[in-house]
Amino acid sequence: MRVLTGIQPSGALHIGNYFGAIKQMVDLQEKSDLFIFIPNYHALTSLKNAPALKQNTLDAAINFMALGIDPSKSTLWVQSDVKEVLELYWILSGYTPMGLLERAHSYKDKVAKGIAANHSLFSYPVLMAADILLYDADVIPVGKDQIQHVEIARDIAIKFNNDFGEIFTVPTFKVEEEVATVPGIDGAKMSKSYGNTIDIFCGEKELKKTIARVVTDSTPLEEPKDYTTCNVFALAKLFLKNDEVEALKERYTKGGEGYGHFKAYLNELIWNYFASAREKRAYFLDHPNEVIEILEAGAQKARTIASEKMKIVRDLVGIYR
Ligand code: ADP
Ligand code: TRP
Repeated sequence: MRVLTGIQPSGALHIGNYFGAIKQMVDLQEKSDLFIFIPNYHALTSLKNAPALKQNTLDAAINFMALGIDPSKSTLWVQSDVKEVLELYWILSGYTPMGLLERAHSYKDKVAKGIAANHSLFSYPVLMAADILLYDADVIPVGKDQIQHVEIARDIAIKFNNDFGEIFTVPTFKVEEEVATVPGIDGAKMSKSYGNTIDIFCGEKELKKTIARVVTDSTPLEEPKDYTTCNVFALAKLFLKNDEVEALKERYTKGGEGYGHFKAYLNELIWNYFASAREKRAYFLDHPNEVIEILEAGAQKARTIASEKMKIVRDLVGIYR
């Protein structure tokens, strides 16, 4: 089964991104044929800053590998390294009714947020359909906001297949229902846009400062504390095994420890959990050529599949070679 996903190169990663998305991918590569790419053409619709986009693209590759995406187990590449995707995007545009795109929530939401309503933003789902159909992906793991985009890809595939036979695999989406929303330091959903994140690769001092800002109540040190409403507990739990969670609950209900103690514990948990990821990341940052070689090898694998598919598609629609 081929599972395909694109993860935006959107700067610093936080622990919500890790537990909500990246960890699932790392687990998935053990049991499926995982195709994972960095959609830098898509990122271009929201980031109009060339050096930043280039930097973010390489950083994303480094961060994913540091966190466990293994290019020997999965196919990892940068979207723009396989140009066939743009050709398919154009061909699929001819099988995409305007109404399908006009109904896209994501477009309307982005315009409402003040992003310029240009054509690439509008046709974003067609490029995403090309990403998916080019590689005959079966399953697309997505967050809720991306479900409609996969449905658009399905509609386009069905329309194309109606005309030409079973050319494209009709993809299905998979929403990770059991993945809980990771709270930010203020208890709301952790998100870049809320400024409440704990970044995975921040320095030791910065981590300490961030943890110090986790919002708690003012129960005095000696009194028992309610772990069910505590942001520090909710975050610590992500890093703990069942028996360790139980032990922490006991420390809360016993009293005699203040939030400072629990924050120090949380700090240590996060710092230790990502220790090997930090090391790998430092290595890749020091060896950018190795990263580029890995991405090129991934693109090569992806391109082989893409070029076979495009031979068939070109022929069917009448592009002469
Ligand atoms: P942000 O909200 O910080 O902009 P993104 O929208 O770029 O994050 O999310 C990238 C991925 O990380 C998505 O798959 C999303 O579902 C996941 N993710 C982001 N924040 C959280 C969170 N707080 N809890 C769980 N998953 C999250
Ligand atoms: N649009 C997706 C997002 O913003 C990223 C993406 C681009 C993608 N192409 C894709 C995801 C293909 C899955 C499959 O998160």
